[in-house]
Amino acid sequence: MADWCAPDHEPLVLVGGRGAHLIDSDGREYLDGNSSIWTNIHGHRHPRITAAIQAQAAELAHCSALGFTNAPAAQLGERLCGLLPDSGLSRVFYSDNGSTSIECACKMAIQYRQLVGEPQRQRFLCFERAYHGDTAGAGSLGAIPAFKGRFHGMGFDAVAIPDIDALSTVDPTEITAVCIEPLIQGAAGMRDWPSGMLTELRAWCDEHDVFLILDEVMTGFGRTGQMFACQHEGVVPDFLCLAKGLTGGYLPLAATLTSDRVFSAFLGGYDETFFYGHSYCANPIGCAAALASLDVFQEEAVLEGLPAKITRLERALAEHFGSREQTREIRQVGMIAGIEIDPIEGLAFTGAEVCLAARRHGLLTRPVRDTLVLMPPLCSTESEIEQMAAALAAGLDDCASG
Ligand SMILES: Cc1ncc(COP(=O)(O)O)c(C=O)c1O
Repeated sequence: MADWCAPDHEPLVLVGGRGAHLIDSDGREYLDGNSSIWTNIHGHRHPRITAAIQAQAAELAHCSALGFTNAPAAQLGERLCGLLPDSGLSRVFYSDNGSTSIECACKMAIQYRQLVGEPQRQRFLCFERAYHGDTAGAGSLGAIPAFKGRFHGMGFDAVAIPDIDALSTVDPTEITAVCIEPLIQGAAGMRDWPSGMLTELRAWCDEHDVFLILDEVMTGFGRTGQMFACQHEGVVPDFLCLAKGLTGGYLPLAATLTSDRVFSAFLGGYDETFFYGHSYCANPIGCAAALASLDVFQEEAVLEGLPAKITRLERALAEHFGSREQTREIRQVGMIAGIEIDPIEGLAFTGAEVCLAARRHGLLTRPVRDTLVLMPPLCSTESEIEQMAAALAAGLDDCASG
C-alpha cells in the first residue's frame, strides 16, 4: 500500500482492450499475458459477448433470485450441466465469484451431512499450498500463509495434506469433503499434480463416501486444453466450482454445480432451507455474457484450436527460458504456464521486478513470488503467444543485466 500511495507512483490506467491486447491511458498497447488475472477467455471487446451484454442490459439489468428466476439464468444452468453430460451434475447454484463458489459448496456439504444424519462429518481436507479464495470459509481451505496466516482457525475446520499419499493418515469418517484445484495449483505458483492423482483421489472419496469438491475457478473453460480440467482424467466431482472464465472474463458470476443426491436432501421444509444467497446471484447480464461465451466456444471451435497454441506456448517457453541459468523449472498445463526463476541478487522481489520490466516490452502479467506466469487468453494467436514469451524474457534480461 505504501508503494502504491507513494507520491511518485504512477498507476497504470487501462482504458481499452482488443482481443489479447489492453490499451492504457497514454495509448500504449500491451499483450494481456495473464488473461486479466486468469479471467479472460475469448479476448477483450469480443463483439458477440459485448452485444449480449448490451441486449440484456436493455431488457433487464438485474432482478432478485430469491423466489424468482430469469431466462438467461435458467438457460445457462441447462447449458452448464450439458457441458458434462451423464455426469450427474444436474443442479446449479449461482453466486458472484470464485471464493463464493467454494464457500457455498462447503456450506452445502456441511448442511447435507446434517440433513442426512451424519453431523460428525464437518471437517474438510485440502492440500498444502492450495488457494480457494479470500472469504473466511474459502480461505480456511487454502494453505498459503500470506493469505491465511492472520486468519488461521477462523473459518471451516480444515486439514491440509501434502499429497494423496497422506490420505492414509486421515480418519475419513470425520470428513465431509476434499477440496482441490485439479491438475494444477494456481496461486501456489502454477504447480501441477502428478497425472492420475485426481483419479486416485476420486476412488478414495468413493471408498469412504467423502465428497469431492473441484475448484475449477482457474482451470475451467478451456484453460487446460479441455473445457474442464477434470475431463482429462474422466473424473466427476460432487461439487464443481466455476467463476473467472464463466462469463468469458467480462462480469463477476460464479456457479457451483452439484448432483440430485445433494439437491434432494434440501427438499424439506423451512429448517432444511439452504440459507445462502448474495444480492446479485444469477444476475441476468452476467448470465447473458456467459451464454454468449459458450456460443463463442462453439462458433469459433475454440477447444479444437487449442492444441496448436499449447504446443506453441511450450516451444516458446523452451526457446526463451529453457537454457537459461536462472530458470529453475518451467511448468505448463495447457494454456497455463509458470516459469520459476532464481532470485536475482539485489532485487527484493525478483518476479515482480521482471514483470514490471516486461511492461516496457509490451506485456502485462503478474508473478506468484518468483514464478513468472504466462496465461494467454485462449484467443491469442500463435504469434501473440510467441511475443508474450519474448517480452517476458526481455524483462528478465533487463533485470539480470541490472
Ligand atoms: C483456484 C482458485 N479458486 C478460487 C479463487 C478465488 O476466486 P475469486 O478471486 O473470483 O474470488 C481463485 C482466484 O484466483 C483461484 O485461482
